[in-house]
Amino acid sequence: MTVKNLIENNRGIIKERARQISWLEFAAMEEKEKIIFLNNSKTGNPFHVLFAQQFSRNSLNLLCQVADKARAIHKYRDEGRRFLKNLLFGTYALNFIIQPSTRTFLSFQTAQEILGMSIRDIRDPNTSSEAKGETLEDSVRTFSSYVDLMIMRHPDERAVEKGAWVLNKSDRRIPIINAGSGKDQHPTQALTDIYTLHKSFDGKIDSRTIVMCGDLQRGRTVRSLSYLMRNYQNMKLIFVSPFRLRMENDIKNFLDRHHIPYQEEDNLEKVISLADAIYMTRIQDEWDKGKEQGVQSVGPKYKFKKEYLNLMKEDAVLMHPLPKRHEIDEEIGYSNDKRVVFWRQERNGMWIRVALIAVIFQKEQKILKYTT
Ligand code: NCD
Repeated sequence: MTVKNLIENNRGIIKERARQISWLEFAAMEEKEKIIFLNNSKTGNPFHVLFAQQFSRNSLNLLCQVADKARAIHKYRDEGRRFLKNLLFGTYALNFIIQPSTRTFLSFQTAQEILGMSIRDIRDPNTSSEAKGETLEDSVRTFSSYVDLMIMRHPDERAVEKGAWVLNKSDRRIPIINAGSGKDQHPTQALTDIYTLHKSFDGKIDSRTIVMCGDLQRGRTVRSLSYLMRNYQNMKLIFVSPFRLRMENDIKNFLDRHHIPYQEEDNLEKVISLADAIYMTRIQDEWDKGKEQGVQSVGPKYKFKKEYLNLMKEDAVLMHPLPKRHEIDEEIGYSNDKRVVFWRQERNGMWIRVALIAVIFQKEQKILKYTT
């Protein structure tokens, strides 16, 4: 069945088709075809969140708007906070996060609490039945028996996708959100980054030059953020990395297809003055085979030094998904320079996750209409 045919048919047929589709068939589909089985066919917004290509400019704008409003409501102390808590009171979330995580875990957990959800978590795979040989598919079905939303971070790039496929076949089709899928994608970090750009540039993200520096090959955050660039006009990307860690061809091909210009450089200092946003990343050495090959830092050409703040445009921002190590001078973390935004970026991550969960549960109009 073609994409066009699928869209023309009604929701019931899509649902029925989702039940029949085999994993191999689903996994082999192109992203735009998969989206039919992931997004809410009525609203066009994501239901299962697997990858950044699911987000349109409209859905990104909506999320930023809802995040801003939820934040304002939360400031409105008792009454506002109680209103937010009532939105998803009596629903349950599971945070199945079995790779190291600090920000993603805490921001999801806090976002769920802000919305009144009750929370369970599994952080050590040795404590769930996968350790007894249960398949991931059966584990996901089991989780869905107890909760209404599932967040999943997994070292296997396809695990969350498999989770969505299983849930689409089940009678309890709860939403699943990718909180990091191996080296592939981290869509909610990319939403965090877009929301940070939105806040930094007063909602005007078009026509910006973004420098991405570090481990572009295995950094899932820069991969997801690159995909989101399609939603903005006249964007330009500058990739700065050592040769062996440069951006993969799948992303470069995507950028070519969508006429988003990019250039590859190997010296951060040379391009700082061109940037509206500088996005630093950590070397993802956990993927290096033997630890002896692991290089924590890749040398001075890929490090943001304190004096580089003087080279930045007046209204540019310095971002990092965190955790950071040697790729940013430690002192910068204590600087009062308004352009250093990575700590604010962390907090933005919590609010954009509030917005995402609210949109998935179709509570966004209630938030937007609330008067403080
Ligand atoms: C990132 C990740 O896990 O991909 N962290 C995060 O979620 N903010 C980046 C990293 O680990 O370097």
